[in-house]
Amino acid sequence: MPQKGADSVAIIELGSAKTCCLVAAVEAEGDPQITGVGHLGSAGIEEGLVQDLSKAQTILSRVVQQAETMAGHVIEQAVVVTSGGHLGNDGIRVEVSAAGHAIERGDIIKTIRLAEREADAGPGTLLHAVPACFSIDGKSGVRNPEGLLGERLSLDICVQAIENDHAGNLHNLANQAMLDVPALLFSGYASAQACLHDEEKENGVACVDLGGGICSTTIFCGSKLIYGGADPMGSDRITRTLAKRLSLSVTDADRLKKQHGRVWQRDADFKEVISVPQRLAEGGMEQTDIRKARLISLIRPDVEEILESVAAQLKRAGFSGRDAGPVVLTGGGAQLQGLNLLAEQILGCPVRLGFPQRYAGLPTSMRGPAFSSMIGALSHILTGEREELSSAAGRLKKGATLTGPAPIWPKRVLKWLRDAW
Ligand SMILES: Nc1ncnc2c1ncn2[C@@H]1O[C@H](COP(=O)(O)OP(=O)(O)OP(=O)(O)O)[C@@H](O)[C@H]1O
Ligand SMILES: [Mg+2]
Repeated sequence: MPQKGADSVAIIELGSAKTCCLVAAVEAEGDPQITGVGHLGSAGIEEGLVQDLSKAQTILSRVVQQAETMAGHVIEQAVVVTSGGHLGNDGIRVEVSAAGHAIERGDIIKTIRLAEREADAGPGTLLHAVPACFSIDGKSGVRNPEGLLGERLSLDICVQAIENDHAGNLHNLANQAMLDVPALLFSGYASAQACLHDEEKENGVACVDLGGGICSTTIFCGSKLIYGGADPMGSDRITRTLAKRLSLSVTDADRLKKQHGRVWQRDADFKEVISVPQRLAEGGMEQTDIRKARLISLIRPDVEEILESVAAQLKRAGFSGRDAGPVVLTGGGAQLQGLNLLAEQILGCPVRLGFPQRYAGLPTSMRGPAFSSMIGALSHILTGEREELSSAAGRLKKGATLTGPAPIWPKRVLKWLRDAW
């Protein structure tokens, strides 16, 4: 097989439910073209963490091979997307003195460099450090401080980090599949890049990715990431409840949830009967009928618990009350019928389902919400990296302006920053 082309990027997602690989050809201009994909159900990964290196590696090698065969070249390095080991939301505020002169570009670069050092020195392995908000003399909401007067210039940054051991395990896993890992990405942040519109990010929006093992939440305002968190509350907990309460294998329970699962009962559900292959106590299997209403009554409490944990997380981040919303629900678990309506009720704000943007060459089987992180990672590599602190100072040095025209910062983002940090 030929070596990979210099203009191709590869991404691997090691999710709790699925492992996938994507190869895209990238031109200097225009959209990328997906040239190779592979995906299989994960093994050895639970709640986003590698629990069995050998099982996870077998699956990874197979999906990489699938993608390589389709792309027609070998993959030497891949960005890895992970939902596991998230260390919570740590905001950092740094400050430099600007006394005696109008704030210069050098002061801004100094602030960004200081923020970079602080972010690097924080716990765990740093995945993302995004500048969220400048303040002058404690007054936040300044997007481009250049030329303004003040004594102290400070910068709030949103930091996303994962446990060092988890990062090490991901590197080992990829290395065993003969892949170098140039970067790790937080899947929640990647999903948001796939599903959120620019206007939503500007005005304030939360993206909730309900995966198999992890429910991640990111909040954007003023086009910046201002919060990211992850809870081990995935859709697999619904599957486990069904498996336990209906004596089903996990595979059958998952199929039942996907095929017939819903969160609202209708009158007809008390009559409708579903035939399921049930395990018998004395061994063996038999087909048993269950009423759809019973299935829904088993699903509903887990869904409520997941949504209540999302509500609590949003509230902790200050994204609640009458002003909050909208929320975009994505991830494989978001496809449960009626989930968005129940989410509106529990979160108290408008909720829509988030689908990833479509790139040419992407197979139909990968166009659903389960692939948001994967597709979003591609968008992030192509454009979103510019949002990160690491590239901000470099761009400023090359003469770019900080963020373009100053937006109107909604009052609530300033409140979120105060509340969250
Ligand atoms: N149509 C559907 N209805 C309900 N649930 C679904 C449907 N399709 C997939 N799911 C559920 O979505 C979950 C998998 O989602 P996803 O593929 O986003 O997980 P993942 O990214 O591998 O995991 P994580 O991000 O938690 O590490 C599983 O629990 C699966 O049962
Ligand atoms: Mg995921």
